[in-house]
This record gives sequence, C-alpha cells and structure tokens, in this order.
Amino acid sequence: MAAENVRRAGFETLVELRTADAADVLRESPDATWDLVLLDAERPQYPGYWPDLVRTLRPGGLIAADNAISHEAEMAPFRATVDADPDAVSALDATGAGLLLVTRR
Ligand SMILES: C[S@@+](CC[C@H](N)C(=O)[O-])C[C@H]1O[C@@H](n2cnc3c(N)ncnc32)[C@H](O)[C@@H]1O
Repeated sequence: MAAENVRRAGFETLVELRTADAADVLRESPDATWDLVLLDAERPQYPGYWPDLVRTLRPGGLIAADNAISHEAEMAPFRATVDADPDAVSALDATGAGLLLVTRR
C-alpha cells in the first residue's frame, strides 16, 4: 500500500521504502541519521527505543508519537522517559488521537 501511494504521488525517486523491524532499523542507524521519526506501532516498546532515538535523531530533528491521548496509559512510560531527559522538550498536539512531539535541545 505504501509503495503504491509513493508511486501515485510520483515520489519513487525520492522515497526509499524499507520493510524491517523499527527497533532493528534504529539500532543499525548511524548517529544523527533522522530528521523525523514517527512512532505509530508498539507503544510499550517506545521507552526501549529512547537511547537509539536520541542517538540517531539529527540536531533539530523531531520525534512524533501518535496516540498520546487515545492510549494515554500505554503512552505513560514513554512520556515519563521523555520527561526524565533534561535535554528533551515535548509538546502535545491535542488533535485527533494526540500526537506527542519531542525534540532535544
Ligand atoms: C497503526 S499502524 C501505522 C499506520 C500508519 N502510520 C498510517 O498512518 O497509515 C502500525 C503499523 O506498524 C507496524 N509495526 C508494528 N510493529 C512494528 C515494528 N516493530 N517495526 C515496524 N513496524 C511495525 C504494523 O504492522 C502496522 O502496519
């Protein structure tokens, strides 16, 4: 479906699609690789992603985690992880399911 969406949008030369476990991709990514990471899958796993998210996010990059409102209890451990990092800054986009936006100083 994603490949078809990319094709219809005419972005085939711009988009590289990877089918892989997100944790593996993060672990194997070099430092400062990503401008934007969208988390929209296994919420209980997000706190474990944090060290690799911090390491692989480019300066000025953004982490966006969906379902911060619709699945508030499941998101609580990740929000606590973010809040415990003195270099993390977060804001909640309270539209829809709730998008937690996180960047680092
Ligand atoms: C809620 S859906 C994502 C919807 C998508 N963001 C959209 O707006 O269309 C979650 C997707 O993440 C995939 N997924 C779950 N765990 C994953 C993991 N560890 N690594 C990569 N993808 C995963 C699921 O197979 C599912 O397709």
